[in-house]
Amino acid sequence: MRRDQEPSGGGIHPLLVGRFSPYRFDPSAVVDDASLRLLLEAARWAPSAGNSQPWGFFVSRPGEPDHERVVRHLAPSSARWAVDAGLLVVTLTRRHVDGTEVLYSEFADYDLGQAIAHMTLQAEALGLASHQFRAFDMEGLTKELDPNPGWAVVSMVALGKAAGEPPEGRDRRSVEELLSGPWAPSA
Ligand SMILES: Cc1cc2nc3c(=O)[nH]c(=O)nc-3n(C[C@H](O)[C@H](O)[C@H](O)COP(=O)(O)O)c2cc1C
Repeated sequence: MRRDQEPSGGGIHPLLVGRFSPYRFDPSAVVDDASLRLLLEAARWAPSAGNSQPWGFFVSRPGEPDHERVVRHLAPSSARWAVDAGLLVVTLTRRHVDGTEVLYSEFADYDLGQAIAHMTLQAEALGLASHQFRAFDMEGLTKELDPNPGWAVVSMVALGKAAGEPPEGRDRRSVEELLSGPWAPSA
């Protein structure tokens, strides 16, 4: 693994270069209704298997009653920074046909991930940073939101104005390794 590359070196789009997952958000920066709407629009236009659109979001901002319903389920590690974000998004996917273990789509989580990628890049375009995370009480939050049968909470995203620089340790495997790295059978 090459440990020293900067994303700007490869000539990728500035929105991709600028994105990073901050460990500090500016608590005074609000995500207004228009920005929230655009983030959801961006997610809405993601591709999905058979156009199934197997995603749903529970959104809340500081000061809103729903915010406390989510914040109380954060793990100590994420609570340190996620409470300061202007927006918390709980992501849900429809994995199963209602009331059964039959897969609704084997691509449900894949599709949700694409919708979140759209959302995070739209956030960058709006000058907002995002930090996706799993550090929360999945069982407690699922009970809290009580999603309909077939639906599952998957992850959370904190969005807002980043405070501070990108953290250390954002290493990436090289392009060459993507092509012929651990997945590839030996010649
Ligand atoms: C599905 C998913 C779960 C993650 N869970 C956590 C988490 O629980 N805590 C955390 O600090 N970061 C979490 N992250 C953020 C990653 O650690 C981060 O994206 C990765 O280190 C690369 O850094 P970058 O986003 O700044 O490029 C998660 C990211 C994804 C996509």
